[in-house]
Amino acid sequence: MASQQHEKNEIERLDREYTLGTWTRQADFNPTQIADTEGPRIVTADGDSILDFSSQYVCTSLGYDAERIADAVNEQIRTVPYVNPGWSTEPRARLSEKLAEITPGSLKKTFYSTSGTEANEVAFKIARSYTGKHKILSRYRSYHGATAASLSASGDPRRVVQGPEIQPEVPGMVKGPDPYAYGSSLDPEQSLEYIDEMLGLEGDTVAGVLVEPLVGSNGVLTPPDDYLPRLKEIAHDHGALLICDEVMTGFGRTGEWFASTLYETEPDIITMAKGLTGSYQPLAATTVTEEVAEHFEEHLLNQGHTFSGHPTACAAGLAAIETYEEENLVDRAKEMGAYLKTELEALADRHPSVGERRGVGLHQGIELTRSEEKRVPFERREDKMSGEPTVLNEVGASALSEGVYFYTSVNTIVVTPPLTIDEDDVDEAIAALDVALEISDNAME
Ligand SMILES: Cc1ncc(COP(=O)(O)O)c(C=O)c1O
Repeated sequence: MASQQHEKNEIERLDREYTLGTWTRQADFNPTQIADTEGPRIVTADGDSILDFSSQYVCTSLGYDAERIADAVNEQIRTVPYVNPGWSTEPRARLSEKLAEITPGSLKKTFYSTSGTEANEVAFKIARSYTGKHKILSRYRSYHGATAASLSASGDPRRVVQGPEIQPEVPGMVKGPDPYAYGSSLDPEQSLEYIDEMLGLEGDTVAGVLVEPLVGSNGVLTPPDDYLPRLKEIAHDHGALLICDEVMTGFGRTGEWFASTLYETEPDIITMAKGLTGSYQPLAATTVTEEVAEHFEEHLLNQGHTFSGHPTACAAGLAAIETYEEENLVDRAKEMGAYLKTELEALADRHPSVGERRGVGLHQGIELTRSEEKRVPFERREDKMSGEPTVLNEVGASALSEGVYFYTSVNTIVVTPPLTIDEDDVDEAIAALDVALEISDNAME
């Protein structure tokens, strides 16, 4: 035990000394070492087992025991570990065929990259080439990635804090309002009308309207059922493509393979990552309809990466999809999501600081409030990057000390466990929240 303790401290010390942490002032970067995993749990070097009710960054949708993926990756590394994307490999070909099968409608051809942000950058280039226009319209409460164009398309506080003096925003990015009935002065219907008007006022120069069908890290915002089909109509009326960023919502999280299906909408382009391999390998994809793909038969697709269609990552993706299928995890997300919803609503009844429960399937969240009537947030958008601890952070820390990990973001506790969880796991997570929410209840106005 003593030597284990020593080893843990040494790893954390090395990490702290030689690694630059993400999205943080380095003085605040003190990561705890994770030394093992089991089912939906991560285990610290101290041996503390933590139930992961966030799936890390909403990405480890298969939990941590997917043997099929481990075997597929191992086998691929031993046969064809890598060739450049100009060659054909079996895992890439079979994964592309599989994605054509599980994505909605006529979505058919896929371009591969390694992260969600790249998948979105690729979508922008494709939409621009296809439409001959240059602007991208996205929404304020959104996150699309950290590279220049995707961050510029994001409305997230992470874009604002960068500021024009540090990272100039890419030109041609315009932003509209969100369907956020709880916290916006526009209702979802008005927000759609606003976007319609904006597209016209931009002189129909917009190539793509980019949305998360069900917003993730900006508060788990569920749109009305008819929102996405209407948005597609509006985009098309103005000659723009609908790009659905399903980096977070893809691969069964909402109880459908893709959240677009939940809203009976076939986007022109879908971007995905995270759940694509259950995060066992870094892999992202941009899938386009047959019609959009056809454009590139004679037009240059001026994009490529060394690791595009990496065979080992594609083998992981294929094995991940087979795992979702064999274990019936998409339907399971629907069933467990219904149970989770009931339990979260009961939790909201017990805790006055829970303002609203939102989300679908295993993509849910609760927004907290200082005042039920006035809907005053505990954590304002600008607090996210300030480094100052908020009541939300305290609630998250309390749940963690009860043994359950939740990701908190923009005044919302994101509840997005792996799709493999059972009712006992939900009960354990709710019990931890019951204790943790005492903190926000006591901090109300
Ligand atoms: C909806 C959405 N799009 C894009 C991204 C960016 O993905 P990545 O971090 O893999 O670049 C994220 C990351 O959280 C996301 O939630």
